[in-house]
Amino acid sequence: MKAGSWVVDAALLVLFLAASTAVEVAAGGGHGPWPGPVLMCPRGSPCFHKWVRCPRECPFRRPWHPYAKSCYIDCYNPKCEAVCKGSGPCDHKGSGCKDPRFIGGDGVVFYFHGRKDNHFALVSDSRFQINARFIGLRPTGRTRDFTWIQALGFIFGSHTFTVEAARAKRWNDTVDHLRFSYDGELVELPQGHKSSWRSPDMELMVERMGRTNNITVKLEGMVEASVNVVPVTEEDDRIHKYQIPSDDCFAHLDVQFSFYGLSSEVEGVLGRTYQPDYVNPAKRGVAIPVLGGADKYWTPSLLSPQCSACVFSPTGTTTSMILQIAEN
Ligand SMILES: *[C@@H]1O[C@H](CO)[C@@H](O)[C@H](O)[C@H]1NC(C)=O
Ligand SMILES: *[C@@H]1O[C@H](CO)[C@@H](O)[C@H](O)[C@H]1NC(C)=O
Repeated sequence: MKAGSWVVDAALLVLFLAASTAVEVAAGGGHGPWPGPVLMCPRGSPCFHKWVRCPRECPFRRPWHPYAKSCYIDCYNPKCEAVCKGSGPCDHKGSGCKDPRFIGGDGVVFYFHGRKDNHFALVSDSRFQINARFIGLRPTGRTRDFTWIQALGFIFGSHTFTVEAARAKRWNDTVDHLRFSYDGELVELPQGHKSSWRSPDMELMVERMGRTNNITVKLEGMVEASVNVVPVTEEDDRIHKYQIPSDDCFAHLDVQFSFYGLSSEVEGVLGRTYQPDYVNPAKRGVAIPVLGGADKYWTPSLLSPQCSACVFSPTGTTTSMILQIAEN
């Protein structure tokens, strides 16, 4: 957040903002990170007239950084306390993290395991497609693979972009594990906060957040993705009994997408949850449901537009037509 842009006269703010939620009022100039603004609840709520300051850990209601905790107050809870919400890249709609745990467009958390060393379409829409490569392992005696997203492939118009997590024996956060390609050519992105790269037609932008291992990918008018390379930690390994080998920390991607102008036909492991009439088929009452669709979304490679339910077509013909031609 650029200081200044929100430092508006408090009375004006109250006039402008919706009556149902707390409003943020700049206090003491509001330029420093803390004490930040105080929150004020709408007239008629139990917390009206209580000026609540945000905790130090989350000074802002709408922090500039996508993974910063945001400050939140429930104006209808008599406690009238501000608390921190959403701490990580994996707490919001459109995320795919860890052994992939997704949060759909409908806000429902689900697992999709897929299969290791295979590719699946995460999002397939009329204008673009995003595939993921799954890596993983299957300890003896297990009936399925443990999987993680190792790479993403973006296909749009006649162009492609990939971002991958490089294999690492031991994790070292000061070492960059990101690899990129555009139209099959390696892209060099110097390390350093805000270091960025644009495609020649300016449609795609990649920008680092922090020196290493975190980037934002922006595909103009279609999607914005925050991508972080992370290892499987010893703690996760212990808790989930993955049995990670000593020579591979399974560096993988945690992803947070924001989509713009998706069509109502959008498909894919994650994409389908953005269909306006999508009904989550997961069994109710299960802590975190596992969703299927591996056969519908399986695709032969990271940059292939083909899967049986995919709707993206780079050439103007539909994928189902391509598949029909292939079958004939
Ligand atoms: C991490 O990598 C940096 C840069 O190569 C190196 O200086 C440092 O010793 C490494 N740390 C560990 C714990 O291996
Ligand atoms: C980088 O990614 C890690 C892992 O998701 C996250 O904890 C950290 O806050 C991110 N840092 C920046 C500068 O985005």
